[in-house]
Amino acid sequence: MSGNRLRIALTKGRLQDQSVALFERAGLDCTPIQHPGRRLIHAVPNYPLDAVLSKAPDVITYVQHGTCDLGITGKDIIMEKGGSFYEVLDLGFGKCRFALAVKEGTDFYGTYKHRRIASKYPNVTKAFFAGKGMDVDVIKIEGSVELAPILGLADGIVDIVETGATLKANGLVPIEDVAQISARLIVNTASMKLYKNEILDFISKLEAELEEK
Ligand code: PRP
Repeated sequence: MSGNRLRIALTKGRLQDQSVALFERAGLDCTPIQHPGRRLIHAVPNYPLDAVLSKAPDVITYVQHGTCDLGITGKDIIMEKGGSFYEVLDLGFGKCRFALAVKEGTDFYGTYKHRRIASKYPNVTKAFFAGKGMDVDVIKIEGSVELAPILGLADGIVDIVETGATLKANGLVPIEDVAQISARLIVNTASMKLYKNEILDFISKLEAELEEK
């Protein structure tokens, strides 16, 4: 909260555009956020809310530290980074899934040999295999994870799949879903107590729009 205004951290890029579209449908004037220039903080003129534009994992950092009362980020980042905050609303956009994928024609579960999995999401990957009682080596890759099985670095990958086009283009096939992903509204735990009415008003505005869809 700054003055009497709530502060929300938005994930820059596609989630930002979809968040803004939802806010607009809920009656918030988001003109300043739609024409941001290089500016990273924007006031909503007709509602006591300021929007901060940041990278997805930083949304969680800002909300956790209470510098932002609210945040919108993907369930993928929430699962990987964790943290203590309330996850209050599934916003229904930014839909994709985490999947385990391997080279086409590979029998991943048909061998007892130790397996290596590459992922941008090592914590999600470790938790997934731990849940199966399987001990695997997880190699953290920063991007273009599909390369790892092709180049022989890993037996499989755990990655985000949206259309499946990237996997297909690289001769990989998804063999198991790990989790469903979409954008979530998160709230700082102290803010939820201190500014309960303001935050509930904001949540109910968004909820009303989501229900109408
Ligand atoms: C993500 C993900 C896949 C791709 C999946 O990558 O890691 O590579 O999108 O989308 P699809 O199923 O529609 O093909 P991103 O674009 O974020 O790039 P990166 O791999 O370099 O991080």
